[in-house]
Amino acid sequence: MKRGLLDIESLRREEIEAILARSKDFQPAPGQTFKRFDTLRGRTVVNLFFEASTRTRTSFEIAAKRLGADIVSITAAGSSVTKGESLVDTLNTLGAMRPDAIVMRHAASGAPHFLSRYLPVPIVNAGDGTHEHPTQALLDARTILDRRGSLEGLRIAIIGDIAHSRVARSNIFLLSKFGVQVVLCGPASLLPRELGRLAPGVTLTTHMETALRDVDVIMMLRVQLERQHEAAFPASEYFRFYGLRPDHIQLSKPDAVVLHPGPINRGREISSEVADSQRSAILNQVENGIAVRMAVLEAVLAA
Ligand code: NCD
Repeated sequence: MKRGLLDIESLRREEIEAILARSKDFQPAPGQTFKRFDTLRGRTVVNLFFEASTRTRTSFEIAAKRLGADIVSITAAGSSVTKGESLVDTLNTLGAMRPDAIVMRHAASGAPHFLSRYLPVPIVNAGDGTHEHPTQALLDARTILDRRGSLEGLRIAIIGDIAHSRVARSNIFLLSKFGVQVVLCGPASLLPRELGRLAPGVTLTTHMETALRDVDVIMMLRVQLERQHEAAFPASEYFRFYGLRPDHIQLSKPDAVVLHPGPINRGREISSEVADSQRSAILNQVENGIAVRMAVLEAVLAA
């Protein structure tokens, strides 16, 4: 991964397995915090976020620091982007400061791929538009493996605003490389048929009950109003049809796991009872985000 991590689609299964295995070494023991390592001492990572983020940005910061790297975080709101600087100029400016890697989030799909053709610095994609969010899919896989031991043969439902979700796309690519049966579910206006052709083993349904029957993992998604130019579904109706409630859980396997990449909107796509239940692994996902990003940064930066 010396050239960075742009997406899951182009990764081989073995590369994914290596990151997932390495992230296990970085998970803290129960009741402990993340251990410190010196692996990346003297290396500098720039965290460049052109879109809002709490989890992903903080998680990359902590991951870099735990490996001994220096990390500088820049958000678009406080940068020269607000003074009209173009993306290429911003990145060239940062590149001239000789960082060892740039972690970037951008609202335009393909922005990190475009820049990686111009800059010699490795780029880690922290979410590009509606395209991909590779480290999210890796941390989701780590969380599922911790509970289930294997991905092979699982049935996983991804429910919500599929159309605008880079999390869904990265997960579709990752899970299908491991023989998972993926069911995509949401209102027809948020469920593009072509996503069913992204990978083998993907099916689509607009019915929650069909999606949830006998699933091992329920992955809920936020409705991304910031990416919708007109409402795709009446807000007041959404929870009634696509919100995850305790009665839905009966349809899934008895030990089904509930995931959500966050930020969660309680009472919109998930009820508090489910979000705070034993089934929910939402905070485990956040914790695993650090371990997985440590593994990714190490793979990208270690000499
Ligand atoms: C997701 C994102 O930004 O794509 N959040 C995250 O990184 N944890 C999902 C979302 O914003 O709904």
